[in-house]
Amino acid sequence: MFKTRITELLGIQYPIICGTMMHLSRSEFTASISEAGGLGILASANYQDKESFRQAIRNIKARTDRPFAVNLNMFPARKRLDNHLYIDVILEEGVGIVETSGHKAPEEYMARLKEGKVTLIHKCVGVRYARKAEGLGADAVTVVGYENGGATGVLDITTICLVPRVVDNVTVPVIAGGGVCDGRGMAAVLSLGADGVIMGTRFLLAEECPLHPAVKQALASATEMDTMLVMRSVGNTHRVWKNQAAETTARMEERGATLEELFQVISGDQAKKMYFQGDTDAGLLACGQGIGLAGDIKPVREIMADIIEEASKARERLNSMKSS
Ligand SMILES: Cc1cc2nc3c(=O)[nH]c(=O)nc-3n(C[C@H](O)[C@H](O)[C@H](O)COP(=O)(O)O)c2cc1C
Repeated sequence: MFKTRITELLGIQYPIICGTMMHLSRSEFTASISEAGGLGILASANYQDKESFRQAIRNIKARTDRPFAVNLNMFPARKRLDNHLYIDVILEEGVGIVETSGHKAPEEYMARLKEGKVTLIHKCVGVRYARKAEGLGADAVTVVGYENGGATGVLDITTICLVPRVVDNVTVPVIAGGGVCDGRGMAAVLSLGADGVIMGTRFLLAEECPLHPAVKQALASATEMDTMLVMRSVGNTHRVWKNQAAETTARMEERGATLEELFQVISGDQAKKMYFQGDTDAGLLACGQGIGLAGDIKPVREIMADIIEEASKARERLNSMKSS
């Protein structure tokens, strides 16, 4: 129905990629996206040792025969396992698709991934980064505009301006998103030349997403006005849901707080209190401006079906505008 270079390259039914989500993109949720016809991406950074990571991969394989990916995170982090240890497991377990994301190009991992015949997607926020990744041998690039939930980088280019610029400057397939939460958005990024769409925020409201129901309920009534940027002062700008923790972070940044001081609010432990215990103000939650379009809490399969139906309608609408 929407056959593109991305559905061909990745072997998936729909050109819909669920963005990696720290703490949330674990095996069950990842498998549910892939099983519904999209691409689920397991966040390797959720696992602090090789064996639990290996188990997570095996758990996905037990739940779906369909393709899935693993994300290698290159963002600054306090506690981190060397990505080469994850790559050991990726190669041993025969994972076919890897997504890299972070503040730099995946140079240091390229040789091993290529040798292991892994399809590599690099996620970034600008033309020059996309070109660099392509030059290194990435098989596809993902670009997300300023509206997106999570890391926005420093360029602040909106999705509608970024996507055609990237499409015009690389030859590999482009997956695009940032602010896309429904099928109209999907049709829009495909119209801009992308071969696939990435969505994170929309899937926060999937029943299978392991986010606490109280947080999902609060997000379900949020609008496009309810996100804000934080952590720019420490070189790690993120778009997050506007809750008490986000507003406290912004105030601390205005006062010139150090990273150590900010950690009282922005740490993963604070986020986990929110994500899994339902304390909606405890920590930061990445969230895109599309939250106002995200709709209801539903199973992944229904969300996917809605998106495809809406995108098909958008396509029909354009087709009906034939010149007479
Ligand atoms: C809760 C949440 C956590 C995220 N965590 C990560 C992450 O750990 N690594 C990453 O590369 N991107 C992360 N992202 C970004 C998504 O993978 C995706 O690029 C983004 O959500 C797309 O924009 P959208 O939210 O507007 O759909 C996260 C996004 C959300 C909403």
